[in-house]
Amino acid sequence: MMRLVVVSNRVTMPERGEKVAAGGLAVALRSALEAHGGLWFGWSGSTSAEPSSRVEPARVGKVSYAIADLTEAERQSYYLGFSNRALWPLMHYRLGLTEFDRSDYTGYLAVNRRFARLLLPLLQPDDVIWIHDYHLIPLAAELRRRGVTNRIGYFHHIPWPSAEVFGALPFSATLISTMTAYDLIGMQTQTDADNLIGGLVALRGAQRDGERVRAGPRETIVRAFPIGIDVESFRKLAVASVRAATQPIRATTGPLGGRKLVIGVDRLDYSKGIVQRLEAFGQFLRSHPEHRGNVGLLQIAPPSRSDVPEYAELDRQSDEVAGRLNAALGEFDWTPIRVVKKAYSRSALAGFYRRAQVGLVTPMRDGMNLVAKEYIAAQNPEDPGVLVLSRFAGAAHQMREALIVNPYDTHEVAEAIRTALAMPQSERMRRFERLYGTIAASDIGWWTSRYLAALTGAGSDDSLVPPEPPRRTSRTRRAAAEPNATSRPTTKKTTAKPAKKPAPAANDAVMSEVRAGFRQEDGAKLLPNTASPR
Ligand code: F6P
Repeated sequence: MMRLVVVSNRVTMPERGEKVAAGGLAVALRSALEAHGGLWFGWSGSTSAEPSSRVEPARVGKVSYAIADLTEAERQSYYLGFSNRALWPLMHYRLGLTEFDRSDYTGYLAVNRRFARLLLPLLQPDDVIWIHDYHLIPLAAELRRRGVTNRIGYFHHIPWPSAEVFGALPFSATLISTMTAYDLIGMQTQTDADNLIGGLVALRGAQRDGERVRAGPRETIVRAFPIGIDVESFRKLAVASVRAATQPIRATTGPLGGRKLVIGVDRLDYSKGIVQRLEAFGQFLRSHPEHRGNVGLLQIAPPSRSDVPEYAELDRQSDEVAGRLNAALGEFDWTPIRVVKKAYSRSALAGFYRRAQVGLVTPMRDGMNLVAKEYIAAQNPEDPGVLVLSRFAGAAHQMREALIVNPYDTHEVAEAIRTALAMPQSERMRRFERLYGTIAASDIGWWTSRYLAALTGAGSDDSLVPPEPPRRTSRTRRAAAEPNATSRPTTKKTTAKPAKKPAPAANDAVMSEVRAGFRQEDGAKLLPNTASPR
């Protein structure tokens, strides 16, 4: 029987990860592995003086975990440096923030080489290997170099920019070439898939035939698999959390009294548009003073990657903006904005979402954004809140009934907040039903089964394909309603903007220019050789 081997940058052992809100990726992968059994390999999140020369898997339930420490130098170059100061901003279209350092790139390649060496002895001939995210792009190439012929898939959780943006990265041609070592590449949206294929054609000279890309003897399929959440579990969590009125919910929402709540939940990351969102909320209160004193914004923003200077700057800037707006707009008995920089349990978050009349999900760019899906899953179907969603989140490609906004336009976001707060219950319910239907039909079970069926060859081995999750019935819908939910006030009828089309991929002329430029670069190989990193 085939076994599933998942590889991701961070591996969270269950007993350590349960209490706080783990990232969407961690939650998604654990569900997939628990459904099949298998091995999860990656970085422990810790550093040690000596690099591990081998890892010993530890079994928890049906899953074995094989985790390796990094040295501090590796954490600096591979994780903080190349992954999070070069690839992260580049892939989020923030060229101005992209810092390329050759020694970081060398460290990134070296860690991928070491991961390949550590994983090799743990692999069995029939294993299906599923590698995740931008930290590990060259890992399949390293495994192939060591003779691995297993099926290897990759899923890219963040956006993939167009070729002319990606091409700004030194050695982009050699890095993108390593993608052809995969059998199947999953992207969040069709735009990302087209961008990657465009890059492979432009920078690597690959041949494209629809979703199939051929470079040398290998053929790689690049396809969109929009990631989902466990909708049903999250819905139950929200119902239970509000019913139990747990301590964080009482403590954080209690002081609001009967006031309305607008909520934002994000890692403290510049891609999430937190500062722009605070400004938009300030603009909303300035444009619509009748709302002052009646509504508050709760922004939950657990700190992330604080050793990267841009994140430390965002930490300072968000405090500064919230402080300025509160001083300018607040009253002695009302603080318009609360920014809470800590992680809450998933159960507490689910309760906050259900309590909030507006979910403000306005990233400047985001692969998918699972908060948008969690916010909808948590709503009371009889009295749902309204999702305001950035057009630059992958989720906007699916969640068309949200109020879709341009996060760069403070006034537009401010008006969407007003529209959301004023939206009649019937329209809120109509939008909610459609949104819930969408996220339930493409939930985490659907995502894993679709991806794994494509990776293993559909129908070749059902044991890797989890059963379809149970579909929502009118009985479960009734159960989702809070018995004592207070009806929210409704006012004027409103019209929302329709979802806008994503930006088109780069045109052919630009691509051939990029291709010409990067042929030269290929001469200077910085791609991994087989030498030991240390
Ligand atoms: O989704 C992108 C991602 O890098 C995930 O891989 C990760 O779970 C999340 O963001 C949090 O990032 P980090 O591991 O750097 O804290």
